Amino acid sequence: MHYPYQITSYEQYKAQYAESIANPEGFWANVAEHFTWQKKWDRVLEWNFEEPKVEWFGGGKINVTENCLDRHLATQPDVPAIIWEPNDPELHHRVLTYRELHHKVMQFSNVLKNNGVQKGDRICIYMGMIPELVIAVLACARIGAVHSVVFGGFSAQSIADRIQDAGAVMVITCDGAYRGNKTVPLKETIDDAMIGCPTVKRIIVVTHTRTPVSMIKGRDLWWEDEIKKVETHGNPYVAPEPMDAEDLLFILYTSGSTGKPKGVVHTTAGYLIWANYTFVNVFQYRPGQVHFCTADIGWITGHTYIVYGPLSAGATSLMFEGVPTWPDAGRFWDIVDKFKVNILYTAPTAIRSLMAFGQTPLMGKSLTSLEVLGTVGEPINEEAWHWYDEHIGKQKCPIVDTWWQTETSGTLISNLAGVTPSKPSFATLPMPGVLPALVDENGQEIEGNGTSGNLVIKQPWPGILRTTYGNHERMRQTYFSAYPQLYFTGDGCHRDENGFYRITGRVDDVLNVSGHRIGTAEVENAINMHSGVIESAVVGFPHDIKGQGIYAFVIFQGFHDDENLTRGDLLATVSRMIGPIAKPDKIQFVNGLPKTRSGKIMRRILRKIAEGELTSLGDTSTLLDPLVVDEIKEGRL
Ligand code: WT7
Repeated sequence: MHYPYQITSYEQYKAQYAESIANPEGFWANVAEHFTWQKKWDRVLEWNFEEPKVEWFGGGKINVTENCLDRHLATQPDVPAIIWEPNDPELHHRVLTYRELHHKVMQFSNVLKNNGVQKGDRICIYMGMIPELVIAVLACARIGAVHSVVFGGFSAQSIADRIQDAGAVMVITCDGAYRGNKTVPLKETIDDAMIGCPTVKRIIVVTHTRTPVSMIKGRDLWWEDEIKKVETHGNPYVAPEPMDAEDLLFILYTSGSTGKPKGVVHTTAGYLIWANYTFVNVFQYRPGQVHFCTADIGWITGHTYIVYGPLSAGATSLMFEGVPTWPDAGRFWDIVDKFKVNILYTAPTAIRSLMAFGQTPLMGKSLTSLEVLGTVGEPINEEAWHWYDEHIGKQKCPIVDTWWQTETSGTLISNLAGVTPSKPSFATLPMPGVLPALVDENGQEIEGNGTSGNLVIKQPWPGILRTTYGNHERMRQTYFSAYPQLYFTGDGCHRDENGFYRITGRVDDVLNVSGHRIGTAEVENAINMHSGVIESAVVGFPHDIKGQGIYAFVIFQGFHDDENLTRGDLLATVSRMIGPIAKPDKIQFVNGLPKTRSGKIMRRILRKIAEGELTSLGDTSTLLDPLVVDEIKEGRL
């Protein structure tokens, strides 16, 4: 069985693509017909990239959970919606059918309502990868509250920043989370974050690790107790809140090249349709298949391809609590065999790290259930692509290389599994509705094939971000000011002779470390918080496993004992300010930084040094003090 809007041949792709560009309104209206609306839209699309303003399906009323849950109840109540594999392989997995998930979402919707949550309220979710996270997210969507999921690796300070920016009234968390052989004390971190978050009135805590936690009277509640109260009252039906197509569905914070992370806003109808359409087409999902996306729901990949894409398609989505290398580097393959996974979607960094363990972890694993493989989050090198193809896909599974961003909400450029051609390290062709272009430094479009430039998108697709929360001007500045009338992705890109796109990496000051997006300015700000730091500059460098590593050049005064202890202090400071994911791999102490006469740090030079390209530093004629560079080169780590 195919979804009515599923593309099944290369010819059909070309035709659909052409139609989507010639007549976007007609094209997306046809797709939107296949969703459950409470009221049909009045206008398909209104937009301009000056303000910028984008509205899809204006006047329509729709609830995402009605599309993810209720509409499947009639046809497939007993199909597994979520299969959950715990961190500890000795413990039992859990299966939630569509009927059960619907019931649990209803329960927790009642809990939210009992605690005074109203439509439009913002709710911060800081949890490990357990089914209650999906339930919490969907319960918010059910009643029209706006979720802001914060990845479990962020520090109290980062959480507080996000809670304050969103004005969140509630936090949903767990006592703790398991990750490999570690227990992460989530509630404790939330307690630290609460100093300075007066908007938060309630914290709901799921019991998971049974780590001792403080429970403050009048503020903190156990999830299980709240559910019991609801059950005592017969778990009343909660109608799916009628949401305007453009009402907020969620906020997700992401890093940029300047300042604090910004709250990327996605709205209801456009996001739902984009998540569903790209899920069904990119992976070529067929009902009955088991889809395993290894991302964390704290990132956009988990939002779109664990929760909303699969569930809106009535799919079975596998969710894994743990890490790929615990108890050993065969864990993913065990999970694939245990649940007969058909689609595996992971990050190049995971592939590279598993590749490093060689063939042993693959011994005795069959992997014969696999039909489609995917990658996301960073460019994939050819070596990793071929390893994935040979050792995991046994050269019989198409590999989709999906290029997209938090801001795009779903895939923009990718091959369609087994339907359109693939090429190692190329994302290949745009999805219907996506009109990419390459521009040079001056914003001049570069036409023709066999060329490179900065990647921009010329018209809106249903899943484009609508604003940056609380600051629309920041959205304009960040994405629509570099090139007037164009959405700027921040990525460099090559278009080959056949018109296939290959994303080459960020051209701004954003790093991609193990698929995690980190702004260099953010890391610098964190390092500069340390009392001995005079100034710092952070750049990326190529890293075999992580893709990019973080290299910090630091001017420091007043060492206590040796340099390594000070390095430790700086790492502790970064962990405290952002989280362990932002810790630099290398810290080089320097006496000065290369600057122009006007005082601007010349990062280009530092990047070259960090990359080990010491002989070709490029134009250094504008340097204020060339001696600084020689000294940095000598001290390179
Ligand atoms: C940045 C977005 C996409 C969801 C997870 C990351 C890089 C993403 C690819 C790919 C090359 C990729 C880009 C992009 N990126 N996918 N297939 N090939 N690069 O979302 O944290 O918003 O990061 O990830 O540089 O701009 P994100």
